[in-house]
Amino acid sequence: MAIQTNLLSTGSIHSYIRNVMAEEITIPKGISKEEIYKTLYPQIVALTEGESDAIANISNIMAALKEAFHWWWVGVYFVKENELVLGPFQGPVACTRIALGKGVCGSSWERAETIIVDDVDAFPGHIACSSASRSEIVIPIFKNNQVVAVLDVDSEQLAHFDTIDQMHLEKICALIGKMNGI
Ligand code: SME
Repeated sequence: MAIQTNLLSTGSIHSYIRNVMAEEITIPKGISKEEIYKTLYPQIVALTEGESDAIANISNIMAALKEAFHWWWVGVYFVKENELVLGPFQGPVACTRIALGKGVCGSSWERAETIIVDDVDAFPGHIACSSASRSEIVIPIFKNNQVVAVLDVDSEQLAHFDTIDQMHLEKICALIGKMNGI
């Protein structure tokens, strides 16, 4: 007589999590911004490690960030044929292409460094995809020491981003940079 067991192998567990279990982000109420990032990061790793498709993973990371922080807009632009082209995002519709050196995104790409803008109206050449956006942080995503994409986050509040955001978003961008296919 065959013995039925409920034990699952590791591979089956991953497949079960992917296919059956609802993937949810859990953020305790009332914790600091830094604590939210610290709680979120391992969840992002868990959410993406069983999936090999970069666009699927980046889409879920954008959803997780939006859910955790409720920013106005969060998304990536990919470097494609010497332009930035809109990728997975959460928020209102946005401009699809940005040239090198243009706006905060194009400047972050050109300088290969994170840019924090406390007041977008004071940033020369800022591209206003939405008039509601007041402050912004853009983080380059590197692969083989080249910028291959940028992560852009917009807030309706002035001076919403600081070095805590920078440190943790750079860590998330390093994770994205390691994905195959970007
Ligand atoms: N404000 C950005 C453009 C992208 S949107 O905000 C989504 C910029 O100046 O590069």
